[in-house]
Amino acid sequence: MTSKSSLSGVNIVLAVTGSIAAYKSADLVRRLQDVGADIRVVMTNAACEFITPLTMQTLSGHPVALDLLDIVQESTMGHITLARWADWVLIAPASADSIARLAQGRTDDLLTALCSASESPLAIAPAMNNKMWTNPATQDNLQTLRNRGVQVLGPARGEQACGEQGEGRLLEPLDIVNELAILAVPKRLQGKHVVITAGPTHEPIDPVRYIGNRSSGKMGFAVAKAAAEAGAKVTLVSGPVHLTTPTGVTRVNVETAQQMHDEVMRNVAECTIFIACAAVADYQPESIESCKIKKDRNDTLQLNLVPTTDILSAVASYGVKPFVVGFAAETDNVVEYAQAKLERKKLDMIAANHVGEGVGFAVDDNALHVFWQNSSQTLPLAPKSQLARDLMTLIIEQYNAKNSIKNS
Ligand code: C5P
Repeated sequence: MTSKSSLSGVNIVLAVTGSIAAYKSADLVRRLQDVGADIRVVMTNAACEFITPLTMQTLSGHPVALDLLDIVQESTMGHITLARWADWVLIAPASADSIARLAQGRTDDLLTALCSASESPLAIAPAMNNKMWTNPATQDNLQTLRNRGVQVLGPARGEQACGEQGEGRLLEPLDIVNELAILAVPKRLQGKHVVITAGPTHEPIDPVRYIGNRSSGKMGFAVAKAAAEAGAKVTLVSGPVHLTTPTGVTRVNVETAQQMHDEVMRNVAECTIFIACAAVADYQPESIESCKIKKDRNDTLQLNLVPTTDILSAVASYGVKPFVVGFAAETDNVVEYAQAKLERKKLDMIAANHVGEGVGFAVDDNALHVFWQNSSQTLPLAPKSQLARDLMTLIIEQYNAKNSIKNS
């Protein structure tokens, strides 16, 4: 499965303002076209001092809109027509002046008039000297725009055209495309609550020791991010990991399998989709020593282990159960074990992956074999972020299919 970009077939008005970074907008046109977007370019007078309209017209394949009061342009694709045509308006580079003018709600040039007339989402990729970027007036203007729902992409930090170092560089064109693609993901999980477990669990033996495993939590965190991008309310119940919580995700930290179970069950009643990515310990010590176990080299040490509660099975047998997705991390016979687990645990879907030396845990790439009733699909080796989005697409499709059968 090669996933289609969320920008495929999307109409984007790309507005270029006066910044030395304007030369990058030529490449940006190409990169947006690569993912299937249709581009119309708008340029301010200042932008034309840095890059020619002819360049942008040739690359976009359409006339460039330059003037608000141009009698010819306004009679063809004028600012109101452009505003209606756009699924997204993207200003890249967005100069400090254009940001200030937008914050003021001015409408005295083509760009500001178009933004004022457009109901489409607006994203801006600022580019300016680092002192201009940190200037309180610029930051106030940006906050005003953010409060109105404008998405701010970047800026990056590093060497600047003026010779200074700092924050204010335009994001690279490919990064702008990737960030915009994430924002443009259809919000198919709007109003849904997705609960996800991630990471390992630690089962204490005594106050300083525990039984753990090598799970990094990366897959679970990537799945949580993908669910949030699709508009879901996301609760991420995470074992001990060193990862940053994705934007828009509510994270609850736990240590043991029992704590993870309790936290999941506290949320299960209002959960739409449950995804068990965590590598939960299958066994826990029967009792936890209150003091550190002393070593006695002349003796062997026996630990009595008892099974942990199976969280996935507990959710799958809950009264009004959510759509339940399990993971099967196996070192061998991946397909057979996964299919058996789908049946035994009464799951709606299971994602199987091979783990072992250098694959599965702690690495950034992964591959999955996903099974559901009477069907399956392979998601080939890809970065976990991409794989998580592809998996979320499958989950949403199967969740919708199951619900349409239930409701028919
Ligand atoms: O049976 P096995 O442990 O291989 O099943 C793996 C799946 O079950 C994973 O989705 C894992 O998160 C989940 N699981 C669980 N609670 C346990 C053990 C596994 O939710 N105690």
